[in-house]
Amino acid sequence: MSVKKGVYPRWAWALTGSGHFFTESIALIKALDAVDLFVSKAAEEVLRMYKQELPADTRIFHETTASSAPVGRFYEGLYHTLVVSPASSNTVAKAVFGISDTLVTNCFAQAGKCRVHAIVFACDTAPEMITMAPKGPVPVYPRRIDLENTAKLKEFDDTTVVESIRELEDAIAARRLHLAEKAAPVDG
Ligand SMILES: Cc1cc2nc3c(=O)[nH]c(=O)nc-3n(C[C@H](O)[C@H](O)[C@H](O)COP(=O)(O)O)c2cc1C
Repeated sequence: MSVKKGVYPRWAWALTGSGHFFTESIALIKALDAVDLFVSKAAEEVLRMYKQELPADTRIFHETTASSAPVGRFYEGLYHTLVVSPASSNTVAKAVFGISDTLVTNCFAQAGKCRVHAIVFACDTAPEMITMAPKGPVPVYPRRIDLENTAKLKEFDDTTVVESIRELEDAIAARRLHLAEKAAPVDG
């Protein structure tokens, strides 16, 4: 993998069309610096339904090409970490079976092929959950297949699967620390 001279690697953040912790994910994106956003077609719609704005000063890649052209950026060494949050059942299922036919599933696949660490906030974590619909909280009952797919994703190399916003914050902090330690000069 080549690294562009003078360009410090960035976070890549992929948003799917899952409403689960959608607004909280946007808040975390706004708190990060050096982040590029990859937004699925469904996420564009969900953004409007939850009346959310993406940060104005962030580079945003939309799902407009069949080949997911922007994911070529992973091959340029521009990213140290991919965060997929929130990750819909659809994206997790495709990712687990190696399917990459959308912008976000392509980000996950190409991150894997470029050995870029991925942090995925999978939405389907328990047989019964409360999720935030555009009009307020609703109960949701992920199916056995959804829970199995989340479990399978945990077995992927170079992938951290988190199940709550707190775990996501911790995983981002741990990744930051790891990157800082890697960049620090070694004594002696
Ligand atoms: C308001 C709204 C909320 C949604 N929330 C969820 C959700 O919490 N989890 C989920 O898996 N899908 C959810 N969906 C459905 C996804 O948007 C849909 O499966 C879509 O195909 C996902 O595409 P993507 O994975 O490419 O983003 C929601 C859809 C809408 C309209």
